[in-house]
Amino acid sequence: MDLVHTRAELAAGRAALDGTVAVVMTMGALHQGHKALLRAARARADRVIATIFVNPLQFGPNEDFDRYPRTLDTDLAICAAAGVDLVFAPDRTEMYPAGEPLVRVNPGPLGERFEGASRPGFFHGVLTVVLKLLQLTRPDFTFFGEKDYQQLTLVKRMVRDLDVPVEVIGVPTVREVDGLALSSRNRYLSDAERDAALTLSKALRAGADAARRGEDAEKAARAVFDGSTAELDYLVLTDPDLGPAPAHGPGRLLVAARVGATRLIDNAAVEVA
Ligand code: PAF
Repeated sequence: MDLVHTRAELAAGRAALDGTVAVVMTMGALHQGHKALLRAARARADRVIATIFVNPLQFGPNEDFDRYPRTLDTDLAICAAAGVDLVFAPDRTEMYPAGEPLVRVNPGPLGERFEGASRPGFFHGVLTVVLKLLQLTRPDFTFFGEKDYQQLTLVKRMVRDLDVPVEVIGVPTVREVDGLALSSRNRYLSDAERDAALTLSKALRAGADAARRGEDAEKAARAVFDGSTAELDYLVLTDPDLGPAPAHGPGRLLVAARVGATRLIDNAAVEVA
């Protein structure tokens, strides 16, 4: 496995890769969820590139950019064990040589809802770095976790709307046995906060059960937050493309909540009877 830090080194490393190429973009602090992405990439493409970059553009002024976990040595060991061929780990100047980019990808109206409403500018930052990394790595496939469902949906939409020549593939969320969705931010949680964090996945299960019975999924899911120290931000039923809630058929239940100082998100597929 080769590790490169500059775009010149990346270009040389990319040119040496034969066959089909998949890229898995990460901000490091890799866990089982990232391993699932790398496994899916390895199974689909001849060569796998992983990128590791904590993207300042997608953090708000009061968010956790400074304390976001940076664990490069462990991340590299995970990439090597997962059969990654090339890791691109640039620094800020390498990614944004002209400083803060003046031109950014506009995520459109969906980028202003849910996560975008709570984190203004978040999806401008995400889509801008994703597009840049796609240009720099030129993959055939790119893999994103369903855990960040709105991000996955917007990346698919960007690729379609802007004719980016890559196939975007979603990978199911990996959970702890008790249901907690894996996230790099889980490591911020104390034991008590981790218990409270289970409210999100419990709420999704309650909502999915209610939907299957033809009952109000949002109401059932919200009720799980009563008496929990997890502070609900939004809980909403949509269709699978994040449009209006379906009267019947497949839907997606999205939740975001604050547990102590940590903001967590989760989502699940539901079937509305
Ligand atoms: O999901 C993430 O880790 C980030 O949003 C991504 C896609 C690597 C862009 O910085």
